[in-house]
Amino acid sequence: MPPDLSYKWPYSALEAASGWEAGGDTPFRQRDLPETPRQLAHDSRWPAFFPSPICFVTTANGEEIAFEKVVGPSIVNRFPYIAALSFCREELSDRHHVRGRFAELLESGGSVAIQFLPQGDQLVRAMKAIAEISENRTSERLAIAGLETRSAKTVDAPILKDAYLVYEGKLVKPGKDFSGDPIYDKPWSDVGSHRVYFIEITAIQLREDIAQGKSQISWGGLPEWKPDPSLPSATGVSPKSGMAEHYQKGYTPRYKFPAANTVAFESDDHAHGMAIKHLAALPQDQIEVDNDRARWPCFFPSPTAMITTWTSDKQANLMPCGSTTIISRHPLIIAPCISYSAINERYGPRASLDIIRQAGSFGCGVAYIDENLTKAIRYSGTTSFTDDPDKIANAGLSVSPRARAPQLNESPIHFECDVVGEIRLGTHIMFLGEVKSILVRQDLTPDTPMTWSPWADIKEADGAPSPANGAPL
Ligand SMILES: Cc1cc2nc3c(=O)[nH]c(=O)nc-3n(C[C@H](O)[C@H](O)[C@H](O)COP(=O)(O)O)c2cc1C
Repeated sequence: MPPDLSYKWPYSALEAASGWEAGGDTPFRQRDLPETPRQLAHDSRWPAFFPSPICFVTTANGEEIAFEKVVGPSIVNRFPYIAALSFCREELSDRHHVRGRFAELLESGGSVAIQFLPQGDQLVRAMKAIAEISENRTSERLAIAGLETRSAKTVDAPILKDAYLVYEGKLVKPGKDFSGDPIYDKPWSDVGSHRVYFIEITAIQLREDIAQGKSQISWGGLPEWKPDPSLPSATGVSPKSGMAEHYQKGYTPRYKFPAANTVAFESDDHAHGMAIKHLAALPQDQIEVDNDRARWPCFFPSPTAMITTWTSDKQANLMPCGSTTIISRHPLIIAPCISYSAINERYGPRASLDIIRQAGSFGCGVAYIDENLTKAIRYSGTTSFTDDPDKIANAGLSVSPRARAPQLNESPIHFECDVVGEIRLGTHIMFLGEVKSILVRQDLTPDTPMTWSPWADIKEADGAPSPANGAPL
């Protein structure tokens, strides 16, 4: 039997002893943050669930190699193509401790390989080595775990022989965005307990059988859950007239890559059973103004956060945001990345951008796999508030009036955040939202938990194989 690599949340009842209180006459429990250092030292697991993938990362400085796992790697900017990786820089607990040696090697060598292993023995061994071999002996982990490596194409960091997907990248250099404003004066930002590194992707390697469409990556972008039928659930979309065509665009939380509704992986090189795509050095040269070609060039696991806001005249808005991750544990900081660029329709400024700036706060709901919620995400994720100020109701959802941001009644978990900063990234703004309180619906319990797999799976392709090199599909 393959090991079960999924998580369930909550692990135990949300009790007063750990700061959870009944939410008056609402069906939600509430917990306020930040925690005290003592509470954190006792238990620094995230106080509530947020769907995050996990990747493995190597770095090297010419002499030594370091090996880590990162929870919540995220693509945060499109041009240049940037991944954010966040590492703990404060001693909070046994779980959240300083990744000092890794940071030293990364900052001196300047490159990483972000990698994904198929579910199975190698993945389990990699996780075990990271858990059991201390951080200051990070360079021994690969050898002790018996994980074989080979050279990368564009960086010094080695690649795990069995990785099915690799993003090679370098610490980003200072530059200018399309409006001439400076970006990345430093390749990292210190945010709360963590240092967030911005990695410019130089090449992507994808296992050849996947690139050819013989196998598919299968990823659940949202957790699975069964709500209590007597509590609110999405009722189905009734789009504003004229918007019906618009929302038909595909989004599915059960994502397969490659498939008829995805881009094909356009490789320009092949080696070691991998198809390889190099990214142009300058963001200007990466741009494809065509909407479809501006899509991400390959699969990268991401969740979908439900970002809610109040406009200045107290109208509620919702923007699904895939580039959302937790980047600091203390204080707990959620970072949605929202497009401000005017490159094309796909990467145009979002109404939510100015609304968040004006409000100084936002909400972040967690959705789950459900047909009506999927339709609601499609509609609200392709329709701007500018075109439909009633988009939440038209998406089949409803809100409760909380002070910081509207709360979606259909989201079983909702984080309320104050904006404590923003980082300009080139095409996207990363908002830093400090979580002030968390609301959890009472039908989410240890007996009726959410199930989440942070790992994608590789399966034999179903249906007709997707064309290999050649777009659009
Ligand atoms: C699944 C999904 C994920 C998305 N992720 C992002 C994202 O990370 N950043 C972004 O700027 N837009 C993202 N979008 C697009 C916005 O949700 C969309 O442009 C929305 O209509 C913006 O609404 P607004 O103009 O009312 O703010 C996503 C859309 C979908 C369907």
